[in-house]
Amino acid sequence: MVHKVKGVVAKSKGDPVSIEMIEVPSPGPGEVLIDVKACGVCHTDLHYREGAINDDFPFLLGHEAAGLVEEVGDGVDDLTPGDFVILNWRAVCGNCRSCRRGRPWNCFSTHNATQKMMLDNKELSPALGIGAFAEKTLVAAGQATKVNPAAKPEVAGLIGCGVMAGLGAAMNTGQVSRGDSVAVFGCGGVGDAAIEGSRLAGAHTIIAVDIDPKKLEWAKEFGATHVIDSTKVDPIESIREITDGNGVDVAIEAIGLPITYEQAFYSRDLAGTVVLVGVPNPEMKIELPMIEIFGRGGTLKSSWYGDCLPSRDFPMLIDLYLQGRLELDRFVSETISLDEVEEAFHKMERGEVLRSVVIL
Ligand code: APR
Ligand code: ZN
Ligand code: ZN
Repeated sequence: MVHKVKGVVAKSKGDPVSIEMIEVPSPGPGEVLIDVKACGVCHTDLHYREGAINDDFPFLLGHEAAGLVEEVGDGVDDLTPGDFVILNWRAVCGNCRSCRRGRPWNCFSTHNATQKMMLDNKELSPALGIGAFAEKTLVAAGQATKVNPAAKPEVAGLIGCGVMAGLGAAMNTGQVSRGDSVAVFGCGGVGDAAIEGSRLAGAHTIIAVDIDPKKLEWAKEFGATHVIDSTKVDPIESIREITDGNGVDVAIEAIGLPITYEQAFYSRDLAGTVVLVGVPNPEMKIELPMIEIFGRGGTLKSSWYGDCLPSRDFPMLIDLYLQGRLELDRFVSETISLDEVEEAFHKMERGEVLRSVVIL
């Protein structure tokens, strides 16, 4: 059976998105059909519609989503219709060289649904293999993780991308632990989640760096103990002052710029860790003296999707949220309808929101 539903589609490079009637097939083997309840608007969706990811138009946008399982395909035995799930864009294979070595969070062979969703006889490319700015979407079973249904969908969905990336950059990649000092460069949704993750992990000093005073105010609400406006002062010197002249144990870059990566590099204490979770563009380059890389020791890491393992991390984070130990409501700046996605992109570009979330 084919389901005809509304979805937000980017038809060609740079053009505003439009609402289209799309066709979503019933699930085949290993697939599940999701009745989408909420989906956050992320920078990656905008990058798709700008043609910055690839040219496989038309794109079905949306990937930070939560919903209910509506139908399951053959061989899917761990999900049943009615389950409340968060979607993820890294369904691990269990078989690749990384999975086999016990590192499924790095899986090198993640997968999506096999059948295609269609628009006017053309195959749609779902953003990050999800496509959840739609009333229904089709994903691989491993892309849907069951969590406690007491969580509101607009909050739960955020765990599926930006918030997980930031929390995981601190908790998984940076291995922030009790007594650490942390600096976070860039206080958008990802950076603020890194601040929260650091607080949750027991960091005693959490320094937020941004160029926008409003973002620094929000960062304090998420748990920053100090804030630095890097248009006014040198963030490297300020971080040293705050940390008795030493620098931080973990410096997290959550923007994706050479300048802030270098600031993170030099803001670290000896043997400290730098985590890059901001995504650079292919033209960006950094220049660092090799002697500084050697002499400062420590670790330079990148964080893919917060190095999360959805089946391990999503239910745990939702439980912490429901217990009041993880603040997630604050990430939801506004809830909108499907036809307001284009306007939400503009609000995001103007830096007015942490997340606009579509409610279906
Ligand atoms: N120095 C400090 N802060 C900066 C600078 C700079 N030079 N340039 C921008 N910022 C701040 C912005 O003011 C904003 O608060 O960085 C923040 C970036 O936040 P968002 O644009 O909301 O981005 P976010 O959704 O948090 O994602 C950040 O992580 O996963 C990646 O693709 C994502 O690269 C992006 C990054
Ligand atoms: Zn794998
Ligand atoms: Zn995203």
